[in-house]
Amino acid sequence: MFRKVGFCCGQPPDFRKLLWIYFIFHYPRSMFRKDLLSQKRIVITGGATGLGFAIASKCAALGARVAILGRTQATLDQAKKDIESSHALSIETFVCDVRRSDDVENVAASIMQVWGGVDQLVNNAAGNFLCASEDLSPNAFKSVVDIVLSGTFHCTQSFGKQMIAQKSGNIVNIVTTYADSGASFVLPSACAKAGVLAMTRTLAVEWATYGIRLNAIAPGFFPTEGAWSRLVPPQMKFEERLLSRIPAKRLGSVDEMATLACFLLADESAYMTGQVLTMDGGESLVDSMFQEIANSDRAQLKKAFLALRPKK
Ligand code: COA
Repeated sequence: MFRKVGFCCGQPPDFRKLLWIYFIFHYPRSMFRKDLLSQKRIVITGGATGLGFAIASKCAALGARVAILGRTQATLDQAKKDIESSHALSIETFVCDVRRSDDVENVAASIMQVWGGVDQLVNNAAGNFLCASEDLSPNAFKSVVDIVLSGTFHCTQSFGKQMIAQKSGNIVNIVTTYADSGASFVLPSACAKAGVLAMTRTLAVEWATYGIRLNAIAPGFFPTEGAWSRLVPPQMKFEERLLSRIPAKRLGSVDEMATLACFLLADESAYMTGQVLTMDGGESLVDSMFQEIANSDRAQLKKAFLALRPKK
């Protein structure tokens, strides 16, 4: 390469080629321009850990003013430190249990004081665990529904009122691939996320008149500490079995999920509302009619298909 740009042969360097080399090595790895979310005031629930943290970091990197909500001050402090040290900007943190409507109202009022309003909300806070449905206590069911469905309602309504007043807003709800289909052993989460999906679609229409749009993201398997510790029993080789089921043959990365969230948060996707975007490596589609045979040896399979063709 150096020979080609003229370093080694006593020739003057070819500056056009040097420019290309500089461009290749310094081209930003993000698909977005750096000011994509410049000055947007974004609130992210459950923003101190896992997917929420990844979304908060990416929004900050793209120029947004970010506030993260979480239940524990120490976890919020750590997240603030991590984001501020890598992006050299200041983010806001608020202790808030989204199950409590008064907590959410207080935080919304504080944010109003600090920022004078909110442009965007990401409802990411969630609760989940594996349990046979017949063994769930009423309180276990309620705990998850309170966080996921009521929590999303509390935040959407409180911050939504500010958005209605300013006649613009953008809300992204994190649901799951089983919000539509349901899924065994996660009944409270399936019911709650289905409710959040219904909320997304309902308000996308009802609040369009206020210039507010709502969309949802349905993630498949993303190996965050919170999800893995509750949903992946290590003794059952569950992760291995999952990987063999996912057509992409890998788990998702939180950065991919954050990228999708930023796409929805950007003004460039302004005409999109009431939609749910799935990111799961194809996992939710594998139960198609012929999937049973899809994992057979492909050459054998093709031979079998050929044998089925009518003879000419
Ligand atoms: N299986 C069955 N029941 C469970 C359970 C489990 N794994 N974990 C909790 N419960 C039950 C408890 O027994 C309790 O019911 P009870 O009062 O009838 O005994 C009820 O759920 C509430 O549990 P508790 O731990 O008191 O509630 P909490 O508010 O501290 O926690 C959870 C809420 C249960 C949702 C907890 O998992 C949580 O805080 N999750 C947040 C983070 C998260 O889940 N992230 C995953 C994202 S995929």
